[in-house]
Amino acid sequence: MDWQQVLQVIEARLPPDDLATFRRLHKSFTGYPMNHTCAAFYDFIATRELSDLLGSFRFQRMTQIGESLSTLPLKGRHVLDVGAGGGYLAEYMRDELGAQVRVTDLSTQSLRRLERSGFQLLSNQAKTFDYILCADSLGEVNSDEDDWLKAPENEGDPGYPEELEQRYGLAGKLSPLKSLLAPDGKVLLFEPVKYPGFWKGTGQLLSNRGWNTEVHDPVPTWYVSAS
Ligand SMILES: C[S@@+](CC[C@H](N)C(=O)[O-])C[C@H]1O[C@@H](n2cnc3c(N)ncnc32)[C@H](O)[C@@H]1O
Repeated sequence: MDWQQVLQVIEARLPPDDLATFRRLHKSFTGYPMNHTCAAFYDFIATRELSDLLGSFRFQRMTQIGESLSTLPLKGRHVLDVGAGGGYLAEYMRDELGAQVRVTDLSTQSLRRLERSGFQLLSNQAKTFDYILCADSLGEVNSDEDDWLKAPENEGDPGYPEELEQRYGLAGKLSPLKSLLAPDGKVLLFEPVKYPGFWKGTGQLLSNRGWNTEVHDPVPTWYVSAS
């Protein structure tokens, strides 16, 4: 299903009042991507039990991320899933890969749902996590309304990493997570972006901010690990 089809199914499923709310929240989130519009949109999705439907739109994407995660030694390790959303990757890591998973998210209603699925939330846990997964979450709130990322000519610009930060704020969002990592812990950053320049730029940006970074190959999908 593509996104337009998902939207049609969601709209067909909702009663009229909810439909108006859904359209408003979707418009706010896509027009003004900020933490509060993001949280309000995903709160609505969680309370109307639409997470599975939204997940079906990303099935292939989640499979690719899962494939990358399956190559890591997660068994028995402490993992924090940041932006766990519908919890599918969190469940995969817990139930299939044997990790001990905690979750956090901007959306409190998503967190309530995750708690009902048996997940513990992030509390005060400095120096705890062997891995912190950020999968298609941190880049959702950005200020790239003129699609700078998509223009190939920007990739060669020496100022690319810093402009990337001005637009996506990935380094700023990762910074507070550093204190939660165990001594040999790593952050795993996945974003649904296929431009090699984005990954090179993200690796460079995080190195500039003091992280040890590694950019992983595009197959099955790009990601950066940082410690
Ligand atoms: C597209 S869903 C991805 C869910 C899950 N990580 C996955 O890959 O299936 C994005 C989720 O990230 C959350 N999110 C976005 N920005 C975040 C942030 N800065 N911190 C925590 N959660 C965030 C949203 O609330 C939403 O639940």
